[in-house]
Amino acid sequence: MRESKQPFVMVLFGATGDLAKRKLFPALYALVRDGLIHEQFAVVGVGRSEMDTADFRQMVQEAIRENSRLSIQEGQQWQNFINSIDYVAIDVTKSDTYGKLKTVVDGREKLMDGSSNRLFYLSLAPELFGTVATNLRLGGLTQNQGWKRLIIEKPFGKDLESAQALNEVISQSFKEEEVYRIDHYLGKEMVQNIEILRFTNMLFEPVWNNRYIDNVQITASETLGVEDRASYYEHSGALRDMVQNHMLQMLMMVCMEPPSKFETEAIRDEKVKVLRSLRRYGEDEVSQYVVRGQYSAGQMKNQPVLGYRDEPNVAPDSDTETFVAAKLFVNNFRWSGVPFFIRTGKRMPKKTTEIVIQFKEVPTLNNFHHGGNIGPNLLVININPSEGMTLYLNAKKPGTDDEVVTIAMDFCNNCEIEGGSPEAYERLINDAIHGDSTFFTRWDEVSLAWKFVDPIRRAWDKNLVPLHEYQAGTWGPKAVNYLLSEDNTQWWYVNEKEAFTLPAQMQDGVFSRR
Ligand code: BG6
Repeated sequence: MRESKQPFVMVLFGATGDLAKRKLFPALYALVRDGLIHEQFAVVGVGRSEMDTADFRQMVQEAIRENSRLSIQEGQQWQNFINSIDYVAIDVTKSDTYGKLKTVVDGREKLMDGSSNRLFYLSLAPELFGTVATNLRLGGLTQNQGWKRLIIEKPFGKDLESAQALNEVISQSFKEEEVYRIDHYLGKEMVQNIEILRFTNMLFEPVWNNRYIDNVQITASETLGVEDRASYYEHSGALRDMVQNHMLQMLMMVCMEPPSKFETEAIRDEKVKVLRSLRRYGEDEVSQYVVRGQYSAGQMKNQPVLGYRDEPNVAPDSDTETFVAAKLFVNNFRWSGVPFFIRTGKRMPKKTTEIVIQFKEVPTLNNFHHGGNIGPNLLVININPSEGMTLYLNAKKPGTDDEVVTIAMDFCNNCEIEGGSPEAYERLINDAIHGDSTFFTRWDEVSLAWKFVDPIRRAWDKNLVPLHEYQAGTWGPKAVNYLLSEDNTQWWYVNEKEAFTLPAQMQDGVFSRR
């Protein structure tokens, strides 16, 4: 990560909210502790509730203590950090309240040799994004001398139409290059590592295509249920919450072509091309390629847990999906014919985000094929919570003539780093400070992602596809298996205890055919 050479003020909307406490303040502190933020910097927290600055600073300190990967080091650096934080309570829907905010921001900037660079961060309810962007302009906050940037949390709209309307409103106050739409998966170390892995290893790039890859599986499973987020989740469901953004972003990173230059727009252009090639399903095809599910009561770690419909603030007849699996196709020269299986769900047995690349089998006439009794090579990229990758290969069992065993070559990305590797939000805030939007979502990406997702949503809204039940604590509805069995494959599971142990099918040490 880079050291910031310019003073700036960050105006954080939603400063008393959950994301600010769990992720944003800890990320800012980590950047300060690592010496990556200019010493002339300030955070102006904006919230609804009246609170004095001392209480707010106290709240920030507790949030960092509870959630940071790094412990607080008392001393001058900490004092400077905590003293750089202010708080302003305003009604963000009323433009005439922004004068109060401007006074505090101006006051901070006067102490910074007159520099005026502003980073606005909207960690708010999505319906406020447009209003706040407009009110920042009407309140005179966007007419500063230096740079201005707007970081927006997801979701960006709820379908193509609403996303277009939101974009239109925002573009009246900020230029596209000033808008940083966050997809925090793009800030994850191992998601960023995919392009390095692919484009700096001659071992992988020549085989990274439909001639050698049988299928790709992308899983993002969570153990948590809806928690206290029903008011948001009831309208989003897993499709809008995870697929439209995080899952498609991972797909793009796996599928993109090498960019002509290692530059922001060149990289984003290649990602967008993947979405342009992504096969879109008509409403009548959705049942064939996409499965939706909702968790019912079950057990997590031997404790009973509620079904989704019994969760607080969820409608008793809710048909919101908490699980989605789909078979996708990227119809271009490199990927034509390769199925990409994606699945994401809440209340599953394990929290994991991983990408499995399954390579094709050796030719069947080959003696080494062992009558089909050996498994395929797999490259497993662990994104979260373990970070690293494992390459599964075949080798002769020592001491035997030709018994084939699985060997796993492991790499752990974060084992040696004190406190773990930087959090996604550290990377992304650091990038935004430097005006680097490579790992933020460009408008055409957002709109193409909605174009893919919208017909699926419509088919579900029209009830053209069943909503399957799955018990909390399981890997989703059984109905999902047909997506894979048609292609003569199955989900590769990573062992519960360790990220780098063998997939279940290989645990005996000898590959067995499925
Ligand atoms: C968020 C979703 O974007 O990502 C949440 O809104 C989900 O529902 C979360 O739990 C998962 O993120 P991570 O980093 O924990 O995999």
